[in-house]
Formats: sequence, C-alpha cells, structure tokens
Amino acid sequence: MSIKIIHVQPGGGFDRVTLGVGESAKPQAGEIQVRIRASSLNFHDYAVVTGLMAPTQPRIPLSDGAGEVIAVGEGVTEFAVGDHVVSTFFPTWLDGEPEVDGFATVPGDGIDGFAREEVSMPATAFTLAPAGWSHAEAATLTTAGLTAWRALMCDGGLKPGDSVLVQGSGGVSVFALQLAKLAGATVIATSSSDDKLARLEALGADHLINYRKDQRWGETVRRLTGGRGVDHVIEVGGPETLEQSMIAARIGGHIAIIGILSGTEARLPVITALTRQLRLQALIVGNRRQQQDMIRALEATGMRPVIDRHFPLEEMVEAFRYEESKRHFGKICLDI
Ligand SMILES: NC(=O)c1ccc[n+]([C@@H]2O[C@H](COP(=O)([O-])OP(=O)(O)OC[C@H]3O[C@@H](n4cnc5c(N)ncnc54)[C@H](OP(=O)(O)O)[C@@H]3O)[C@@H](O)[C@H]2O)c1
Repeated sequence: MSIKIIHVQPGGGFDRVTLGVGESAKPQAGEIQVRIRASSLNFHDYAVVTGLMAPTQPRIPLSDGAGEVIAVGEGVTEFAVGDHVVSTFFPTWLDGEPEVDGFATVPGDGIDGFAREEVSMPATAFTLAPAGWSHAEAATLTTAGLTAWRALMCDGGLKPGDSVLVQGSGGVSVFALQLAKLAGATVIATSSSDDKLARLEALGADHLINYRKDQRWGETVRRLTGGRGVDHVIEVGGPETLEQSMIAARIGGHIAIIGILSGTEARLPVITALTRQLRLQALIVGNRRQQQDMIRALEATGMRPVIDRHFPLEEMVEAFRYEESKRHFGKICLDI
C-alpha cells in the first residue's frame, strides 16, 4: 500500500521539502508497524528542515510520532495491534546513563522520522501513549515533554517547595511550568509578551517577568525569591539568557542547559559559576525508561499538554513558519 511521505532534501530549506508517496513496509522480527497519526514540532525539527542542522541525504523529518499499532513482528510481546503508542527520541537508548553522542540515531535527523503515514521500527523505539490521550497530545511527549521531565525530575531532583524559572512560552518551557506546578514548586515564568504572561499565569505561574522590558531579570528573580535565587532554571535561550540565568540561580542551584534559541555560542562567566557553585547540566531529551516514568506520572495526575494549533501533514512548512513567527504558546501539532 502506498503512503504519504515528506522528505527534506540535502542542505535543507523550506523550498526543498517534497511531499510524495512511498511503500509501507511490514514489520520484521522485533518490530511494530505503526499508523502514525500525529507529530509535534520542535525547534530541532525546524533546524533540520530549514538547514540550520541540514541533513546530508534526503531525510524524512520530525522526531515526534504517535499513532496506532497495526501489525506486530515476530517475538514482540510488549505491544498488540490497536495499542496507542508514542515514539522515543533515542530509539537505542533504553535506560541508564547517556550513551549517544549527538543526533546520529535520532528519527528526523540521523535516521528517517515521522513525517509519514506508516512506519515499521523496533518495538523499543516506542512506548505506550498515556491512556485516553489524543495522538496529537501524545506526540508532544517525545521531545518537549521528556526534556522538561528529565531536567526537573531526573537531573534536577525537584521536590515540593523548590523554585523553578522557565523561559518563554515554547513547548519545553510550558511543559516545565506544568510539571513543576504538579510537583508543588513555585514557578517564575518569563516571556516577551504580556498576553503570553497572562496565559502562563493561568497555567499556575506564581511570578511573571517580561524579559524584553526587564533585561536584568536575573536580579528580579533574586528579589522575588527573597534574595535566595531559584533552585532550577530551564535554560532554553542560550547566549542571550545564560548570564541572567546564572544570576537568577541560588547558590548551588541547578541550571538545565537545554536550548539555543538565541544562538549556539555563549559567554560563560566562570567566576560566577565558581563562586555560586552552580550545577550546569546539559541534556538532550532522555531515555525510554524516563519516558515511561513520565507517562505513568501524567496518567496519575491528569495533566494534559498545551496545544496551540494543529496543521495537516501537507502544511508542515506553514506550521514551521508559524513556529518561526513565535506567535505560538506551547505546542504546534501535525495531524497525519
Ligand atoms: N536539549 C534538549 O533536549 C532539547 C529538547 C527540546 C528543545 N530544546 C531546545 O530548547 C529550545 C526551546 O525549544 P522549544 O521546542 O520549546 O521551542 P519553541 O516552542 O519554538 O519556543 C519558542 C519560544 O521561546 C521563547 N524564546 C525565544 N527566544 C527567547 C529568548 N532569547 N529568551 C527567552 N525565551 C525565548 C519565546 O517565547 P515568548 O514568545 O513567550 O517570549 C518563543 O515563543 C530550543 O533551542 C530547542 O532546540 C532542547
């Protein structure tokens, strides 16, 4: 049977995105075949498609995929036909310490991703989706959800009463706000937009800062925490935000080095890092076990992701242009 597939050509660029058809492959031993129903967009996918992190060969983009199992290969016992599943960012990193350098194994970057109607992959490249979630909701977990979960719960060891700074209102930060509130933390949220700050407040943010109007927001965070600083920073800005994040963090505080929204080379004030004994922990998403732990927590708490807008697969480029405009709040999803 033929299926719809999107490719981005070597070098990337919106004008090098092609929608075509391909053949669906039956699952081999150990694989499951999934009818992909949804994906969600991340800055990383944007970087691959636009050419900032260009593929060197024709590539099916998108790291997030959620859908329904339509066939299982020999030996697969974990999944059955009809199960709703969601992909993992690192299909080969199942548990334990990080073991993968870069994106060579990541769907939508080093290997083909989920901008297609069907896929057969090793069963371990998926987990069950949270019960009762839509495919689009589930698709938000692979990259954005797990990054926020790992930063706060695994690397950060978040506990009730901790304070968390989240930057902007993109996918990772909104997830981090929601997870931090679930865990009983105080959240300080920043945004370039007062309207978005109001929406962050509605999601539970305790303190709000417009980072365009208050460019020394690190000091403001200190003041808001009685001079102590926050326990955790979800650092997605990169060069434009790192120094302020280091001012905002408490002595011995944890800064999750996650994003490159303002570039890839930042100045590191080493003396501040030393004198404040900061813990700068870089991370790329997480492993399959962490995804399963996160999904158990989401099912237990009833938390749901914030989806700003849906686009059909055919309008993937328009969806990326919308992400580029930074008008979104939370996640942008593709229905496939
Ligand atoms: N390391 C990892 O595992 C990992 C995983 C996922 C994402 N990331 C990275 O994390 C970053 C965020 O990803 P995302 O998918 O959440 O992106 P996104 O949804 O596209 O987030 C965009 C939002 O970030 C905010 N923003 C942009 N520039 C900012 C700045 N200089 N300072 C503060 N906020 C800024 C803006 O919010 P406002 O409009 O509210 O100002 C903007 O709307 C990206 O760099 C991405 O590559 C890393």
